[in-house]
Amino acid sequence: MKAFIIGATGGIGRRVAERLATRGHQAKRLVRRRVQVEALSGLGIDAVLGDLVRVSVATLADVIRGSDVVLFTAGAGGGDGPEATTAIDGDGPDKVAQAMKIAGVSRFYLVSVFPEAWRERHMDEDFEQYMVEHPLTRQPGSPRTPS
Ligand SMILES: NC(=O)c1ccc[n+]([C@@H]2O[C@H](COP(=O)([O-])OP(=O)(O)OC[C@H]3O[C@@H](n4cnc5c(N)ncnc54)[C@H](OP(=O)(O)O)[C@@H]3O)[C@@H](O)[C@H]2O)c1
Repeated sequence: MKAFIIGATGGIGRRVAERLATRGHQAKRLVRRRVQVEALSGLGIDAVLGDLVRVSVATLADVIRGSDVVLFTAGAGGGDGPEATTAIDGDGPDKVAQAMKIAGVSRFYLVSVFPEAWRERHMDEDFEQYMVEHPLTRQPGSPRTPS
């Protein structure tokens, strides 16, 4: 199987990529830094340079084309403010889905979050923004900032 992973340098994505490789699957990765592309290529791992926020849908479609499945394990992590959370966690999966449609790839795995996660805790605004934005919890027409 040919997988395309967005977020493969992160905690979840790295583990998924390693497990796919040990099972004999290919795991092509979108990474943000040229040095990461070079390091991975040196290990014989297929990696393409690209930032999910800046890459166009058409370019993303080009690099996804030929994959059997796309795995989305990217996330802003809350450290870069609400705009980054909206751009990556909120709009990112939509952008990838559009690119997949163009590329003719239909199998999409998204690491998301349960709507009820940590509702019993008092979480900071970054986390609340993440909950507003994430696809399983994002409501059509919902406000982009926590109410
Ligand atoms: N870990 C959990 O317990 C948990 C629980 C529920 C849901 N999730 C979801 O799973 C996601 C991944 O979790 P994680 O723990 O693996 O997070 P992580 O370690 O912070 O990894 C985030 C990944 O996203 C990439 N990324 C961020 N912005 C990007 C951009 N603009 N373009 C391309 N890639 C970008 C990062 O790349 P760089 O290396 O370049 O920064 C990194 O590979 C979370 O953000 C969340 O949505 C996680």
